[in-house]
Amino acid sequence: MSDTMTVREVLPDVYWIGAIDWNRRLFDSLIPLPDGTSYNAYLVKGSEKTALIDTVDPTMEFEYVCNLIKLGVETIDYIIVNHAEQDHSGSVPMAAELFPQAKIVVSEKCKDLVVHLLEIDPDRCLVVKDGETLSLGNKTLEFIMAPWVHWPETMLTYLREDKILFPCDLFGSHFATSDLFIRDIAEVHHAAKRYYAEIMMPFRTQIKEHMKKISELDIDIIAPSHGPLYHPPDPILQRYADWISDEVKNEVVIPYASMHGSTDKMVNHLVGALIDRGIRVKPFDLSKTDLGELAASLVDAATIVIGTPTVLFGPHPMVANAAFITNIIRPKAKFATVIGSYGWGGKTVETLKGMLNHLSIELLDPVYTKGIPDSACLRELETLADRIAEKHREAGIKMD
Ligand code: FEO
Repeated sequence: MSDTMTVREVLPDVYWIGAIDWNRRLFDSLIPLPDGTSYNAYLVKGSEKTALIDTVDPTMEFEYVCNLIKLGVETIDYIIVNHAEQDHSGSVPMAAELFPQAKIVVSEKCKDLVVHLLEIDPDRCLVVKDGETLSLGNKTLEFIMAPWVHWPETMLTYLREDKILFPCDLFGSHFATSDLFIRDIAEVHHAAKRYYAEIMMPFRTQIKEHMKKISELDIDIIAPSHGPLYHPPDPILQRYADWISDEVKNEVVIPYASMHGSTDKMVNHLVGALIDRGIRVKPFDLSKTDLGELAASLVDAATIVIGTPTVLFGPHPMVANAAFITNIIRPKAKFATVIGSYGWGGKTVETLKGMLNHLSIELLDPVYTKGIPDSACLRELETLADRIAEKHREAGIKMD
């Protein structure tokens, strides 16, 4: 499919000029994109000055320039860079060359990044601070520093007169759609949750602080830099309030791998035992799993059970990868443990426990068995299911 070029009016003199990447299937050589994505960028035309808000991934800068040509844009005064990651800033060098008089508006930290990542001339940068404004004549842009959503330099831009918040990655979703605005939150809910899990969840604490600032703004439209826009903003704000809260759900996530069936048998037995105790379970066979689905499931779960055979002296490499990812995305789970089997020994359980050191979790006793799980091992798994149910109850988790 050839690339889509389209300009959409968000409100009078505010335009979406981004690019829809229908076919992209991987981001950062890591994150699966089952629904593609978009790089949303905007043009705000004031009575005196004109600003660009973010650009697009450099692979789609042709579409971006075509959109500017379609709008007959001759002059740009400001290029706002909310975030220096290249899927939004990668076309800033081209825009800066097209509009040599434009100032590049950045946070202090972003200045350093655009100089080093994009070779932007530091003298072109206009550094703004928290609460600072830029007048475009009849429109005013206000800048809100919001570090760590999800890099240290990130800021949000608020267009006061039109009550539009441009939060860049925050509230985004990797979801290619021809709809400018969401029609039904149910359509984008899962993509937004995956996106939160993959990109934003490690910064839950910082987002709580940013949400306080955002709640003080009068917002009609949230215009993120990936996925559809929200008008009104409540559906996405309500979901974020839930995802960043400290509350966990009566759910157990089980990422696992099995080589000769022993771990698989243990996982299946535990899954049944947890269902019997009224606990929601999500097992993920890592040889088949989309890691984004695993991440999304970790947003709410109270407990993580890692299942692995022993490969040489440690966990299966796919399990080690899943544990590493779980550790860096920092889910709010309260309990964790390891189950699996071994042939002749090793330090699998110790290794995996060490790999979860960023999580604030209570480690429950592992169930680790030699070879095929026997009846004693299966009883131990039932005891583990009892223990998990008890822990959930003690933690005050609502047991449906
Ligand atoms: Fe969509 Fe952090 O870039």
